[in-house]
Amino acid sequence: MTFFSYREGTLCAENVPLTEIAAQFGTPAYVYSRAAIERGYRDFSEACSGHDVLICYSVKASSNLAILNLLARLGSGFDIVSGGELERVLAAGGRADKTVFSGVGKSEAELRAGLEAGVLCFNVESEEELERLAAIAAAMKKTAPVSLRVNPDVDPKTHPYIATGLRESKFGIAYDAALPLYRKAAKLRGIRLAGIDVHIGSQITEVEPFVAALDRVLEFVDALDATGLRLEHLDLGGGLGIRYRDESPPALQTYVGSLFQRLGSRKIRVLFEPGRSLVGNTGLLLTRVEYLKHAPARNFAVVDAAMNDLVRPALYDAWHDVLPVAQRHGGAFTYDVVGPVCESADFLAKERTLAVAPGDLLAIMSAGAYGMSMSSNYNSRPRPAEIIVDGSTPRLVRERELVKSLFASERLLP
Ligand code: LLP
Repeated sequence: MTFFSYREGTLCAENVPLTEIAAQFGTPAYVYSRAAIERGYRDFSEACSGHDVLICYSVKASSNLAILNLLARLGSGFDIVSGGELERVLAAGGRADKTVFSGVGKSEAELRAGLEAGVLCFNVESEEELERLAAIAAAMKKTAPVSLRVNPDVDPKTHPYIATGLRESKFGIAYDAALPLYRKAAKLRGIRLAGIDVHIGSQITEVEPFVAALDRVLEFVDALDATGLRLEHLDLGGGLGIRYRDESPPALQTYVGSLFQRLGSRKIRVLFEPGRSLVGNTGLLLTRVEYLKHAPARNFAVVDAAMNDLVRPALYDAWHDVLPVAQRHGGAFTYDVVGPVCESADFLAKERTLAVAPGDLLAIMSAGAYGMSMSSNYNSRPRPAEIIVDGSTPRLVRERELVKSLFASERLLP
């Protein structure tokens, strides 16, 4: 099913022309499709049917309350990495007992907040964190459910900035150190060993690295079993890639199927932490062309969105398709699509053939994951509005930021 398509030459989100959204809410704006978000979750859930699975949507991918609420209503759990994300999940109607708390640097306050809320599991990333959590839990007279995040030393074959399961990575506990740490954890007051966790990276477009990581985890589970330690769940993390340009990521059935094949007859609950694969293709960034600048070496389409709104191209050289909202015939040039920010890395796309005029709208596609959630206020730019289209109705789910709110909490010296 397509949620963004041309109707009579105009790009629409579900039934709403993006021209109408720009007229009503201005640009730049993030525009999502409700049906796409719900389809994404249902597809994942259906691929897992027949198995004991909890999908814990990775909040960092796209964290608007309305999106979290839609997923919570479908039964989703959540994967969080900060106290801020915990508060968002709770404010959106998400359940703490379906929430896993990941992250390499949880503060005391965050561990306390997770215990207070009653999260399903803490994915612990170091011995130091384990000790800190045990002490806090004991002082609060609570028991913290824990998985250790092991680093399987598997190459996910993705961009180095988003690979997390290699030996050099700051994430997880070295494979060889994990068994002794489990033994230690089993004896700690305040700790209950609930599972084991692995997450090897993001935008992974092959099944093999996931299977390799699972194999290492299973060796581990067997070794624990042999010492009498039975785990309740395996958390296999997120990381499944999507198509931005010409990638061909495995189908959900293939991804989930390969993993369950490996699990065989083991009866253990499985957690997934998908982010991008649920929401990456559910949103776009709508922007307007301010100027066309024909310089000697290159042509530039200068638009009103910038790297502060969508940093992926600047940070990872990421590709996002660029579609004109109103199709024109003829007059195409090759453009770099750039923003107004004062950095040479401020580009959204390079060398795209586009027939555009100043004032035209462009849609930067596949911006539903790590778009708004990674935006900033660099250059004192207010962040965009967010709109979810629901059939024929566009709904504003986050107002465009006001410039005055950007410095409202700042103070002059006396
Ligand atoms: N679980 C953990 C522990 C994670 O660190 C992440 C993502 C996920 C789950 C979700 O991964 P996903 O299913 O979305 O691949 N900003 C980068 C991606 C960073 C991913 C960080 N961790 C980007 O824009 O490509």
